[in-house]
Amino acid sequence: MTLDAGHQGTAVITGAASRRGIGRALAARLAAAGWALGLLDIDPEVERAAEELRTEHGVDAVGAVADIADPASVDAGVSAFEARLPPVTALVNSAGVSSPVPFSDVDLATWERVMRINATGTFVVCKRVVPGMADRRYGRVVSLGSTAMQNGGGTYSKSVYAASKGAIEAFSRALALEVAPSGVTVNTVAPATIDTDIMGGRITDDRKPAFLSQLPVGRLGTTRDVAALVEFLVGEDAGYITGATYNVNGGLRIG
Ligand SMILES: NC(=O)c1ccc[n+]([C@@H]2O[C@H](COP(=O)([O-])OP(=O)(O)OC[C@H]3O[C@@H](n4cnc5c(N)ncnc54)[C@H](O)[C@@H]3O)[C@@H](O)[C@H]2O)c1
Repeated sequence: MTLDAGHQGTAVITGAASRRGIGRALAARLAAAGWALGLLDIDPEVERAAEELRTEHGVDAVGAVADIADPASVDAGVSAFEARLPPVTALVNSAGVSSPVPFSDVDLATWERVMRINATGTFVVCKRVVPGMADRRYGRVVSLGSTAMQNGGGTYSKSVYAASKGAIEAFSRALALEVAPSGVTVNTVAPATIDTDIMGGRITDDRKPAFLSQLPVGRLGTTRDVAALVEFLVGEDAGYITGATYNVNGGLRIG
């Protein structure tokens, strides 16, 4: 399948409600490039996010409230996208939660909650969306990992979060292999210290020095830093890239 210029199809983005988050910034960036958008989030604000894209960019955009780890609500949301939008050509799994609790204090309930949202949620959404891409012989899947999965934890989150993101990366590599013959690519993006609210709320001036001391480039990352890379990876030109992990981490981890 070859896409006509300006007709990329529909990108499904999970976790696109958070006003200062990566998913929402990516949605705005893809809308500006002419994509139709299907936005999934557990926060009802997702409907306002879709409305903003329709108003500001004149694109087709639908917001659906769904818990990504609940197959029934994901199915309802994606079915609404399929009924109202062009075929889904891209999926970005950005929904996620952090966990700063060290292993010494963490409990099973936290492990199960974080694994359920981050790892199971990514699996559930892929299960619902990827078969249609494979049938149409074209698709781009990008999932948000984290430097935490490579570095023994992050600048904020600890072992449970790292494990959940490691699961996403390993799953993405295996899925990439399975669906490569069907024209679907699957990649992981691993950011660090992006200035959103996921690390226990806004990174205020008094919190910044602790983060900056670990970042060789001397600044926090922005949602734009991540969205620019993801926009490339969901584009037609990225068709020879699959099973890869891309770091967007300001030099926190080299290699
Ligand atoms: N910000 C960073 O520094 C950073 C670093 C590494 C990785 N990441 C990853 O990037 C992704 C986006 O992070 P962000 O910083 O934009 O966070 P964010 O908190 O701004 O956005 C996360 C979104 O996920 C949604 N969400 C949470 N649980 C959900 C569920 N069960 N079902 C549906 N939606 C759900 C939230 O409502 C929110 O809109 C996450 O997967 C995160 O782990 C972020």
